[in-house]
Amino acid sequence: MTEQPAIAPVDFVVVANRLPVDRSTDEDGNSAWRTSPGGLVTALEPVMQAQHGAWVGWHGAADEVVEPFEYSGYQLLPVPLSTQEVEEYYEGLSNGTLWPLYHDVVAKPEYHREWWDAYVTVNQRFADAAAAVAGHGATVWVQDYQLQLVPQMLRAQREDLRIGFFLHIPFPPLELFAQLPWRRQIIEGLLGADLIGFQTPGGAQNFTRIARQRLRLETHRESITLPSGRVARASAYPISIDARGFESLALSGPVQQRSRELRHELGDPEVLFLGVDRLDYTKGIYHRLRAYGELVAEGLVDPARVTFLQIATPSRERVEEYKRLRDEIDMLVGRINGDLGPIGRPPITYMHTSFPREEMAAMYAAADVCVVTPLRDGMNLVCKEYVACRSNNDGALILSEFAGAAGELRQAYMINPYDVNGMKSSMMLAMNDTVQNKRRRMRALRRQVFTHDIDAWANSFLEDLRAVPSNA
Ligand code: ADP
Ligand code: F6P
Repeated sequence: MTEQPAIAPVDFVVVANRLPVDRSTDEDGNSAWRTSPGGLVTALEPVMQAQHGAWVGWHGAADEVVEPFEYSGYQLLPVPLSTQEVEEYYEGLSNGTLWPLYHDVVAKPEYHREWWDAYVTVNQRFADAAAAVAGHGATVWVQDYQLQLVPQMLRAQREDLRIGFFLHIPFPPLELFAQLPWRRQIIEGLLGADLIGFQTPGGAQNFTRIARQRLRLETHRESITLPSGRVARASAYPISIDARGFESLALSGPVQQRSRELRHELGDPEVLFLGVDRLDYTKGIYHRLRAYGELVAEGLVDPARVTFLQIATPSRERVEEYKRLRDEIDMLVGRINGDLGPIGRPPITYMHTSFPREEMAAMYAAADVCVVTPLRDGMNLVCKEYVACRSNNDGALILSEFAGAAGELRQAYMINPYDVNGMKSSMMLAMNDTVQNKRRRMRALRRQVFTHDIDAWANSFLEDLRAVPSNA
């Protein structure tokens, strides 16, 4: 059991694999915490501040104990992980087993019993830390696939809590989920929550069906009745972004200026395609660049007039599949640019780097076509960020049917990333479509993103969670 933190009990606790802050160290070795970029933090920070809440999460460094501290009006409770736990719980079970399994097995999941043991140990540590800080009758909101056992572990020690869980990635159908040697434990772990949120109705239905067919529990629509008589609810809450924040950033003078500079640095192309992703095999980066390369090879796209900017944030670099993907993309881009680029006009500019939000907004503002082609994605926020930055209603979004966002952003140019020819046709259409068509689509996309922003998401989940009768 983790040592009790030296802070007073709170009414609202978020439990997530990572804390909402990053540590930076200056030249003199002084380190400081800064808010991590990202919608979840933006949405939850006001709730945390209003309720003087606490956030339980890993601070990102192995073998280091960091004391709880106050940050921006709420408490941060760092959970320590050893080097071996980072390997087995985070890189192993979370990202070598669950991540590929939940994303349609687009890479092969590995099943190792020692990874599972570490997952259980670490989930228990997070649950203990949350139980220690949650006041009587508090609301605890657990986030994502790394912590699926926490709801039940919390409930086992604290019947008085209201417990919510939100899964940021897809929840697979029974036929795939059944591979998991620890499938029963995961379902039971999640059922410790009063409200279990998914990105899409399909994910919620997959979960309810597994509870019914594998655990023989009684279900009715979104409700699942447990042997104790308690009712848990599984429902869809599609996550979103701080749309207004992105829009005003994109409209600011410095970002507009940077956006013009970017186009100039890229050779003032007539058409700029943009891809922005974590370097992850679920994102379909290879598929999209291959399709684009073929358009260039066939002379349908002229690299003297059109260019593709692909940004890939380094991610999970110690996991084998991610190392392989990096090599594959490096090779593909090298081949396309080497074979097809006129001097000074590489068809693809590829950057394996992370950027500040301002630079991201400048890229979104600069791009004529944003290409989002995941093979499977829980939601995908990049496509929503692009839409938020197009205040002139111009630009075109190419979006995979396999992104959770496809359920909402129906006016995008939809593609199947496995269909190379279909993807090529959509790239041509998005590039050459009439201004009126593009505007019509973008207006509809923007209506959706602005009315369903991150605040609406957090409020609707928390309202539903608070509607659960209290056991306190
Ligand atoms: P995932 O959560 O799987 O990474 P999303 O598309 O939902 O995918 O979210 C990605 C987030 O990461 C977005 O908010 C996006 O702005 C940000 N991001 C992606 N690439 C970069 C980058 N190179 N630099 C900074 N932020 C990035
Ligand atoms: O979208 C899933 C997710 O795990 C997010 O929660 C997280 O911000 C992102 O992927 C990056 O993953 P990691 O925390 O493993 O770097």
